[in-house]
Amino acid sequence: MKIESVGVIGAGTMGNGIAQVCAVAGLDVVMVDINEAAVQRGLDQISKSLDRLIKKETLTADGKAAALKRIKGSTSYADLKGLGFVIEAATENQAVKEKILKQVDEIVSKDTIIATNTSSLSITKLAALDSNPGRFIGMHFFNPPPLMALVEVIRGLQTSDATHAAIIDMAKRVGKEPITVKNSPGFVVNRILLPMINEAFFVLSEGLASPEDIDAGMKLGCNQPIGPLALADLIGLDTCLAVMEVYFENFSDSKYRPCPLLREMVAAGYLGRKTGRGVYTYDQ
Ligand code: NAI
Repeated sequence: MKIESVGVIGAGTMGNGIAQVCAVAGLDVVMVDINEAAVQRGLDQISKSLDRLIKKETLTADGKAAALKRIKGSTSYADLKGLGFVIEAATENQAVKEKILKQVDEIVSKDTIIATNTSSLSITKLAALDSNPGRFIGMHFFNPPPLMALVEVIRGLQTSDATHAAIIDMAKRVGKEPITVKNSPGFVVNRILLPMINEAFFVLSEGLASPEDIDAGMKLGCNQPIGPLALADLIGLDTCLAVMEVYFENFSDSKYRPCPLLREMVAAGYLGRKTGRGVYTYDQ
């Protein structure tokens, strides 16, 4: 099963990035969103992102034109008919995804591979809704998809070896480095990253060091490009808290207890960069 054509559902942050990555790699892409404005926003983002690659001299103007030509924006799921692969990158909500995947199942052929880019929902549970669960898989790109090398490939309990092999091959063909992960809350990378960020809040709340020194410590001592508290501000403290709550609930293990300081800051509306104040303050 070699994937040549791709459907991307959702033209938001991740969807337009995934569409761009696939088109630059030479695959034909149909990018679907709920209305013309959302589709156009996604296409505009791709154009801007390709311009940045031209500036960095990693893409030519001809390369940009060719990539854009390979992407068809659409508001109709009917345009997914005949594609070899569809990846869902719409809003992170179980009900929204279930509705989308049902529509896709009805339109594409039985051997089209279907993936979701979800960062927190169960691949096994979503696969169970498909008429051919073996063709369903998680393909978790990182933000921003054009720049981040990793793709987590998540096997649900039902995912077939053929589906897994096809997605590993495709991830490499679009220039990414895949790792294979079993379905579990947070998969691998976020499961390690978020508890580390949560621990940084415990260290801060215990008054062990200033935010600047905690971040400098992890940057200089662990070679991290950004400290955990600055990263929390970037991700959004509300998102960090929500993810920790998911682990705490799913694993029933006190090691995932969200830090009370994190809770307090979210309650205060100090959500990070997006509100101008989190651990640090930012000019709006
Ligand atoms: P976003 O909010 O930027 O984009 C979501 C898009 O989905 C919107 O354009 C929305 O109009 C569209 N959409 C909603 N319902 C739809 C439907 N029925 N049909 C077609 N399109 C529909 O969200 P974002 O950040 O791109 O996230 C998308 C997925 O990627 C989520 O599952 C999220 O968990 C996952 N993800 C997000 C990352 C991030 O850093 N933002 C990183 C990795 C995964």
